[in-house]
Amino acid sequence: MSKIFVANWKMQLDYSASLALARDYKKIFKGTSREIIVCPDFLALSKISELFKTTKLRLGAQDCSISESGAYTGEVSPKHLKNLGLSYVILGHSERRQYFAETDELINKKIIAAQANRLIPILCIGETLEEKKSGKTKEVLSKQLTTAFKGVKPSLIIAYEPVWAIGTGKLAEAEEVEEIHKFIKEIARQILKKAVKVIYGGSVSLIPPAGNSGSGIKGFKKIKNLDGFLVGGGSLKTAEFYKICQL
Ligand code: PGA
Repeated sequence: MSKIFVANWKMQLDYSASLALARDYKKIFKGTSREIIVCPDFLALSKISELFKTTKLRLGAQDCSISESGAYTGEVSPKHLKNLGLSYVILGHSERRQYFAETDELINKKIIAAQANRLIPILCIGETLEEKKSGKTKEVLSKQLTTAFKGVKPSLIIAYEPVWAIGTGKLAEAEEVEEIHKFIKEIARQILKKAVKVIYGGSVSLIPPAGNSGSGIKGFKKIKNLDGFLVGGGSLKTAEFYKICQL
């Protein structure tokens, strides 16, 4: 099964820097057979959508509203994103949960709204360091999934992103990821009655991080149940991201 690679540019680049990076991606990924989903900020989506029209690169948003239109100042409609040519939307990223108080219930509504507009949600879940230390990882993931899955269709991707690994340079251990992905896939199969893809995110980089007993991200090659990666910082450098996409 071919792997999925999601580039999450977060709010790191202004409009012209986003376009410059998108042009670099277009060049380096010309003719690629990889499934690559690029998620710039909202400002750059329109222009990059035009730029990627003749490529196999897919475009995603980093969030969307639960509503299709109306008086919701500051929101961005999933319908309008779809009209722009987008195929995906990241939902429930830990930064949105942490800084914008997004709950599992709200994320569930966003998934339903995205799917109603034929966008494929990339649902992010993950435990904090505290939760991990107190042995609650599976309990936390199970709750996040069970609430998020209420009334949703199986057409979604799950990104397992341990919160303590995001932007910290701390990579999860390969064996741990293998086991957790298996657990996530089991829950998804039970509730959604279909297999879903599970990708890993959190300090995905080619430089083996300190404190990781394996061989860094290259050690993930042998893992079962890994359908790809969600990459933040590592996706801002074209050459590095290109190499990650060869994993
Ligand atoms: P990171 O971010 O690769 O910079 O850790 C991952 C993510 O949060 O999307």
